[in-house]
Formats: sequence, C-alpha cells, structure tokens
Amino acid sequence: MNKMIQSIPKIKIQYEKTMLLYQAAMEEVLTRIHILNREFKIENAYSPIEHISSRIKTPKSIYQKLQRQNQPFTMENMMKFVHDIAGIRIVCKFTSDIYSLVSLLENQHDLQILEHKDYIKNRKDSGYQSYHLIVSIPVSLTEGCINTLVEIQIRTIAMDFWASIEHKIRYKYDKEIPPHIQRELLECSDIVRFLDQKMLALNEEIYEEEANHKDDYEQIIDSLKAFI
Ligand code: GTP
Ligand code: MG
Repeated sequence: MNKMIQSIPKIKIQYEKTMLLYQAAMEEVLTRIHILNREFKIENAYSPIEHISSRIKTPKSIYQKLQRQNQPFTMENMMKFVHDIAGIRIVCKFTSDIYSLVSLLENQHDLQILEHKDYIKNRKDSGYQSYHLIVSIPVSLTEGCINTLVEIQIRTIAMDFWASIEHKIRYKYDKEIPPHIQRELLECSDIVRFLDQKMLALNEEIYEEEANHKDDYEQIIDSLKAFI
C-alpha cells in the first residue's frame, strides 16, 4: 500500500518531465520558425507566414491514441508511438511559401526531418490538403540531451479554412459524414486548390510586372548616365 502511494508522485514527476521535454522542443522549433520567417522577409520583402499556432496534446488524447494502437499508457510508449504530442501549425499565404519553408527547415543542421507527408500533391480522400513533417530536435535537460519529436503542419489560409470547417462537420457527425456532404466537401477542396493556384499566379504576375518596371527604371538611369 505504502509502496503504491510512494510510486504515484514518481509517475507524476516522470510525466511532467516528459511534457516539459515536448514543451521545450516545441518552443525551440517555434523560435527557429520565427527566425526563418524574419530572415525570409529581409530577403524577399514579405513574410511567408500568416500565423502560427501550437499545442501540447492532452493526457486524454495521448491515452486514446495509444489505446487505438493497442499500446499500454507508459512514458516509453508515448514517446515511441505518439508522434504528435507537440504540434505546430503554420499558415502561409501561398502554396510556394509552404515548399520554401520545408526546404529552409531541411537546411537546419541539428533539426532532423523524420517524415514528410505531402497532402498537397497527394490530397487525402476526404479532400484534406496540407504538408506534414515530423521533426526531431535535441533538448538539453539535466540528465542529458534528448532528441524529441514535433509534428509540423504547413498549409495555406484557404486549406486551413477548409480543414477547420471539415473538422467541425466531422465532429458533428461523429466521424461518419453523410455521402452528399462528403461530395460537397470534395468540391470545396477543388475550389481551395483552384483559389490557391489563382492567387499564386496573380501574385507572380504582379511581382514580374514590378521587376519589369525596375528594369525600365534601370534602363532610364543607364541612358541618363550616357549624357553625364
Ligand atoms: P493521426 O492519428 O490523426 O495522427 O493520423 P496520422 O498519424 O495518419 O497522421 P496524418 O498526417 O494523416 O494526420 C495528422 C493530423 O492531420 C490530424 O490529427 C489532423 O490534425 C490533420 N488531418 C489529417 N487528415 C485530416 C482530414 O481529413 N481533415 C482534417 N480536418 N484534418 C485532418
Ligand atoms: Mg499523426
């Protein structure tokens, strides 16, 4: 009996330490993303990131995920089988920003990308579009350095809008969405893809025009120089 009472706080400390690890890993990755965004802004005169959100999975949700995989709820299993305890969602303006961010993250020397899931090129059957990464980052605690996983979801504003509405609908129907609503959602997903392509093309056209104007300006300066 005494032994049991003594072991409870030990488990609690172990759990809190594990959560601290994920919290620290998430903050570390968030800091890097913010720095990348600022650096990108200096070089390209705009921020690729519209907004970022992050969360740590609740104990209930971790437990349910382990249960679905028939795994007992232990610290080891949590770290081994639940790869999205720490989650970051990045919302960008354009699809091209997503791929730029992915390659910038790939170039981070001690951030290892363990998994890429491109649900933009390979859209899910539901119509879901997004780019998912599972990254591993070293976190230093008193007992040493531990590589910790963080899930990063990167999507455009339009993809995010679709995902949040679809999530709400899925929740309402307890994951069994009626077929006619599924069809409507797929149609909306097509519109999202079309909108993202249109916006990107429009943006590229504007920047191309701007670059051409710059060329005109440089030519005028050059011809003026000839008279000096
Ligand atoms: P999970 O058990 O949910 O982690 O699935 P998984 O390990 O196969 O990962 P996946 O990359 O497919 O999805 C992980 C996360 O992406 C989910 O927890 C959701 O946040 C999001 N997601 C995936 N599919 C959908 C979808 O069809 N609709 C919406 N709204 N979100 C989705
Ligand atoms: Mg997952």
